[in-house]
This record gives sequence, C-alpha cells and structure tokens, in this order.
Amino acid sequence: MSTAYQKGELIYEGKGKKVFQIKDENNFIWIDFKDSLTAFNAQKKGSFESKGAINRDIASMVFRYLKKNNIDSHWVADVGVNSMICEKLQMIPLEVVVRNVVAGSFAKKFGLEEGIEIPNPIAEFYYKKDELNDPFISDDQALYLMAARSQHELDSLKKMGLLVNVQLKNLFAKLELRLVDFKLEFGFNYNKKICLGDEITPDSCRLWDLKTNEKFDKDRFRRDLGGVSEAYQEVLNRMRRMWGSEL
Ligand code: TMP
Ligand code: ASP
Repeated sequence: MSTAYQKGELIYEGKGKKVFQIKDENNFIWIDFKDSLTAFNAQKKGSFESKGAINRDIASMVFRYLKKNNIDSHWVADVGVNSMICEKLQMIPLEVVVRNVVAGSFAKKFGLEEGIEIPNPIAEFYYKKDELNDPFISDDQALYLMAARSQHELDSLKKMGLLVNVQLKNLFAKLELRLVDFKLEFGFNYNKKICLGDEITPDSCRLWDLKTNEKFDKDRFRRDLGGVSEAYQEVLNRMRRMWGSEL
C-alpha cells in the first residue's frame, strides 16, 4: 500500500525533518527525517550519516508500540529508509515536556543536581516560537496567546503527556534505558481529534543506561561527549533485539 504514495510539493522544512504533500491525498503528509542535528535553537549544527534513517526507525517503532497500547499518533506507514506517511495535523504551538528525573533546563533553572528522581512526573508547556527560543509558558499565558482553546484542552494535553510517559517508561525500561524526560507535540487531525505528532527519538528524549547512567541521546551532541551516532544506533539496536519484526 505504501508504494502507492507519491511525494508532492515541499510544505515545510524544519531542523530535523522535511514535510511534503502527497499527490491526490489531502489528509496525509510525507515526512523525510534529515541527517542533520541541531541544538540550542540551531546555534549548534551537525549531522551524521544515516541519522534520518535511524530516527525514522526509532520513531516508527515507538509509535507502533504506543498504538498497541491504545495511544494513537499521526504515524500511518513507513516509506523508503528515512520517510514516514503521517496524518496531516493542524499543530498546536506548544511543546509538552514530561520529566521523570531532574536534568537539562530543569536542573539549571532550580540549581539542582541532574539525576534526582521526580516521584510524580512533571508536565510543562513551552511555547513553540523559534524567534523567542521556545520559552516556558504558563497555562494562563498559553490561553492569553491562544496557543490552546481552553483550560480543558491544556489539561488534556498534560494528561496525554503523562499517559504517553507511562507507556514510554515501560518501553525504554525493557531496553535497559531510563526515560529521564522528553518532549511531545500534538495537533488536530482531519477528524478534529487531538493526535500525537512530531517524533519520539533520541533527539526529543533523554535516555540514560539503567545501570551505568551513560547517555544515549542528543545530550551527547549538545555537550560534545562524542559517540553521537553510536548512541542513536544503540537505541535502535536494543529496540530491534527486543522486537525483531514483531512491531
Ligand atoms: P530541557 O531540559 O532542555 O528543557 O529539555 C527537556 C526535554 O525536551 C529533553 O528530553 C529534550 C527535549 N527537547 C526537545 O525535544 N526540543 C527542544 O527544543 C528542547 C529545548 C528540548
Ligand atoms: N531542538 C532544538 C534545536 O534543534 C534545541 C535542542 O534540542 O537542544 O536547536
């Protein structure tokens, strides 16, 4: 079925992905995962060979795992080595970040050591605006800026973030990885239903080895730790070992 999709015009190019129309198909889009890697709002740039293919495979497996666990996303099908067919979403301009362990900007903001467990996972919103460096946004600010339509919608986004967290924590624990934190994006699909979009990959999650705390995510690039491609590949290898062709 997937071979029937024909790539159309470029709609949008982001830091990690390119989005295309699909010929004669209005409800779906074609996403290419790029080999590029950016951090700090693209002030730092890099890339590695096959990054797009690795992230496509990881994102696809994660979305299929979520689907099996009753969480729908925009994922429809994989095409080629680094592309996906997805539902076209009207994106909500908020990033939903969920934290299980103190790290990154949360550690910095509150002067805390990285690695402290957060017993009740914390969900936060960031306003998606590159010119402003995606700032933290409160619920009231989000409503004022009309980033969401109602408090109910904001509550639903947080609830969905926390539900995804439960599933993702389980998934990564099976891979001997600790899900420290992650970022999600949501949008409205053609049925006007809120749907999980974007990607879930080592670009958008912090993943630490359960036993050694070694980092298997984009912090290796952000912090010049080396072994970036090897870390992404290792996440994919662990997933493949776990499921083979099951998913
Ligand atoms: P933070 O600690 O820098 O706020 O990041 C929290 C999580 O969100 C982390 O897993 C990385 C992810 N993230 C993105 O996916 N995109 C971003 O632009 C940022 C800042 C974080
Ligand atoms: N996603 C942002 C960028 O691409 C920031 C980050 O992930 O650190 O620049």
